[in-house]
Amino acid sequence: MGSLRDDITEKEVQVMIQRPRRLRSSSQIRNMVRETRISPDSLIYPMFVAEGENIKEEIKSMPGQYRYSIDRMDECLDELENAGVHAVMFFGIPDHKDETGSGAYDHNGIVQKALRHAKETHPCMYFVADLCMCEYTSHGHCGILNGTEVDNDATLTYLQKIAVAQAEAGADMIAPSDMMDGRVAAIREALDAHGYTNVPIMAYSAKFASSFYGPFRDAADSAPGFGDRKSYQMDFHNRREALKEVLLDVEEGADIVMVKPAACYGDLIREVKDATNVPVAAYSVSGEYSMVKTTAAAGYIDEERIMCEMAVCAYRAGADIYITYFAKELAECMRKGLIG
Ligand code: PBG
Repeated sequence: MGSLRDDITEKEVQVMIQRPRRLRSSSQIRNMVRETRISPDSLIYPMFVAEGENIKEEIKSMPGQYRYSIDRMDECLDELENAGVHAVMFFGIPDHKDETGSGAYDHNGIVQKALRHAKETHPCMYFVADLCMCEYTSHGHCGILNGTEVDNDATLTYLQKIAVAQAEAGADMIAPSDMMDGRVAAIREALDAHGYTNVPIMAYSAKFASSFYGPFRDAADSAPGFGDRKSYQMDFHNRREALKEVLLDVEEGADIVMVKPAACYGDLIREVKDATNVPVAAYSVSGEYSMVKTTAAAGYIDEERIMCEMAVCAYRAGADIYITYFAKELAECMRKGLIG
């Protein structure tokens, strides 16, 4: 015989028809009702290609990531392809820098050479060219300087030259990451004028001035020589401005828009997804990668599980494409069924 209090509780339990735990009671049902489905087809691996020979040099700030010379890059492409990752984005590390970043648009610039090589040895893979000047300019800014200012409109002409050089070398997609105004329209016009009407543009549309890029700048030796990038990359306090940038890029002809970084920016991935009808890419940047690697190496977190959780969260936020230094490992986790 229970007390009056117990009777009420029993009754309440009887009428509780909503029991969300029913759909979590076994792995079969959990997998059946899973809301976010992902596949290696949506991964892009960012790869650093350097001038020189026989180079596979580990990047100090990004343990497990390397700079490859062209004669060694096939090893990495083979590993990716075997893991089921079919898309790669190239970042070039030239051996010569100048005021106008001429290595970025030179027919024999490092990315152009890498593209020609990769297209030949891995014809089934898809190659994206990051389009930016900061790895090639002596001052490290993403555009042409006028005094200490980055001159927007003077830069556009150079971005056009770079895009055409990359397309000529075989780039399957062009990804401008400079954040100049009007660059998507300018690049589209130049590509079309040279017959590359079918080369899509994936615009780094909402790219924030972020400290999460620190390890990349070390990897690509692309830190600005003076000042910072706040006059072109976005202020991370802003949300509505991200939508303004994205909508402008779509209007100018962007085929895919990107939010960068990914971790901590899930709110924007979702808003961009809801506000557009183009695919949305999220770039999990170098700082995100290095934080996971170093914390896991110290034994504080489980690298594989954290990497998987971060990726799924970006997709859940709305990403259709995920750009990550963990692409190969993630593809393997998807295959193992750890996520998917
Ligand atoms: C070039 C560029 C950067 C990154 C991608 N393209 C660096 C920057 O804007 O300073 C960052 C990528 C990363 O941190 O993984 N502009």
